[in-house]
Amino acid sequence: MTVEILPRAFVWRRLHSLMGLWLVLFLCEHLLVNSQAALLLGDNARGFVEGVNAIHNLPYLQVIEIFLLGVPILLHGIWGVKYLMTSKSNARSSDGSTPALSQYGRNHAYTWQRLTSWILLVGIVLHVAKFRFIDYPTSLNQGDRSYYFVPVSLDKGLYTVAARLGVELYGPEKIVQERKELEDRGGEQALVEVSKTLPETMTFDAQQQMILTSAQSYQQKMQWVEMLERQEIPADGVIAVSKDFGTASVLKVRDTFKHPLYVGLYTIFVLAACFHGFNGLWTFCITWGVVLKVAAQKRMLRFAWGLMALVTFLGLISVWGTYFLNLRA
Ligand code: HEM
Repeated sequence: MTVEILPRAFVWRRLHSLMGLWLVLFLCEHLLVNSQAALLLGDNARGFVEGVNAIHNLPYLQVIEIFLLGVPILLHGIWGVKYLMTSKSNARSSDGSTPALSQYGRNHAYTWQRLTSWILLVGIVLHVAKFRFIDYPTSLNQGDRSYYFVPVSLDKGLYTVAARLGVELYGPEKIVQERKELEDRGGEQALVEVSKTLPETMTFDAQQQMILTSAQSYQQKMQWVEMLERQEIPADGVIAVSKDFGTASVLKVRDTFKHPLYVGLYTIFVLAACFHGFNGLWTFCITWGVVLKVAAQKRMLRFAWGLMALVTFLGLISVWGTYFLNLRA
């Protein structure tokens, strides 16, 4: 019996294609959640906060991030660059040495699919660096409570928005005041020392209970103040502290999209991702033989363009609407 082995280049192309489809599904989910920072106006971005919290609370989140996002992006991106290097556009005018067939829409789409690849390559690196690393809220877990700290710049509406979202704002003076309040609890600090002398195993004793509870409450307060002091307060800003990750994230998104430069860059990023993803969805259907007949391919193209318009709207509304429409004040 002979075993047919598929050519390696074919397998990689199919894998690249499948990863592309997977990324399109992720793009839909991502922009649907993001849009809710701006839509459902007056709802304090509740949909966004709940969606982000649901994802953030998934078990083994980092494993999920690496294997369900990092690996597919890397595989698709690295093979994508390889294909980019060998691709040849035929949608522009030519000196006659290469074909120039600019009358066909699909040739332009082919060129744009490749141009948007470069935008995505740079955009994804910068986007992940900004939101997943540089601006990622710092967390402090204390018993069953968690706090999330993010530096944000001040504007006229921030106080009202913070109140709406149940967020505390800390400027430099308030942090000094927190430290002072801690020092005023000198009695409890002494109890921390006493608690260290208590034996590891003990029988119930009301006095020891009081010592240990006060000492632990003092230590928690100290961790809290130290966490605040460790944050870098922007010259024109404050540290916002929320009780959940989603709220801290929405504040950071709001902070980003009050700057016209970010609004401009993310507009290009969203347009590039949506064109690349949904034009890609159509080429995916051809690659895998999902649509074979010309009429079916035309129908599929209309469907892909429709989805592209919808998801682009969801993406752009979060860029333009989080600050300017929903959370300005
Ligand atoms: C990391 C940057 C990226 C690069 C360098 C890249 C590159 C490419 C290239 C060159 C192609 C055309 C392959 C061909 O037809 O020969 C392609 C197709 C595709 N890309 Fe990307 N891409 C990137 C990110 C993305 C993202 C974020 C998505 C999802 C929104 C995506 C979804 C797709 C889809 C669905 C296809 C079509 C696959 C097919 O025709 O079977 N890509 N990509």
